[in-house]
Amino acid sequence: MPTSILLDCDPGHDDAIALLLAHGNPDIELLGVTTVMGNQTLDKVTHNALSIARVAGITGVPFAAGCPRPLVRNLETAPSIHGESGLDGPVLPEPVIELDTRHAVDLIIDTVMEREPGTVTLVPTGALTNIAMAARKEPRIVPRVKEVVLMGGGFHTGNWSAVAEFNIVIDPEAAHIVFNERWPLTMVGLDLTHQALATPAVAERIAAVGTGPARFVGELLDFFAETYREVQGFDAPPVHDPCAVAYVIDPSVLTVRRAPLDVELTGTLTLGMTVADFRAPAPDGCTTQVAVDLDVDRFWDLIIDALVRIGDPE
Ligand code: BDR
Ligand code: CA
Repeated sequence: MPTSILLDCDPGHDDAIALLLAHGNPDIELLGVTTVMGNQTLDKVTHNALSIARVAGITGVPFAAGCPRPLVRNLETAPSIHGESGLDGPVLPEPVIELDTRHAVDLIIDTVMEREPGTVTLVPTGALTNIAMAARKEPRIVPRVKEVVLMGGGFHTGNWSAVAEFNIVIDPEAAHIVFNERWPLTMVGLDLTHQALATPAVAERIAAVGTGPARFVGELLDFFAETYREVQGFDAPPVHDPCAVAYVIDPSVLTVRRAPLDVELTGTLTLGMTVADFRAPAPDGCTTQVAVDLDVDRFWDLIIDALVRIGDPE
């Protein structure tokens, strides 16, 4: 039985690859795609999501736009990493599918409430604004969600400050809501995703697939490699968001550790820092865990396999 997911994203180079992986893997049923501001403004990331749908040949899946700004703070985007469009590099095709008329928060609520309890996994790969809003608007979704597997945070490192990761620090209040609900939650943070490096050898494997979507991914990675080299000093870019999807496909791709988890809301130097308490075995009833180690080869095999299965939709 495939795992049914809702992907909540802000495409974004790595979000695009996460979407391709979710679409191309037979063990995932993609129930819907929702967008949230983050890497760029809401209108830009939503347009990007619809363009990616065309590249990947995704039809029959609802796409809905969500929150245009964080719960409390002003909007902060990441053009230094993702460019002015949020998805700079390849030429983006004009979308061919229409947006769902619902707000993303309502699409999330409707989907979770319509499905059998314990069957829908939420996979947020952007700020947690839509997920937090959904939990507040319809609290009955919380016990019905199978689990939340999110890309964000980190326990030893940051990227938007010394200790805070972008998705969390741009809306830390939303992260606080999501971390403190009683649903099972896996945080796939920077400690994990910095192991998913798109090296030249990986780029060669992707190029060898030889399809339009694979070329699209190659062009995304060329741009991403350049900004990650200039801005963050990486030799190869970390492809964060698909790591969360990979965990849903096959939990053995990631090693996880159970630990109480929270987010800093008041620190002057540490705003948005995610804090995992590893001091002792996690207490009974702890619902949170963090990803620590990636099976790198298996991860890239999943990406390549998805691209091969997607083929050339147009
Ligand atoms: C996260 O921030 C975004 O820029 C990426 O898409 C990823 O979700 C990494 O910190
Ligand atoms: Ca993202």
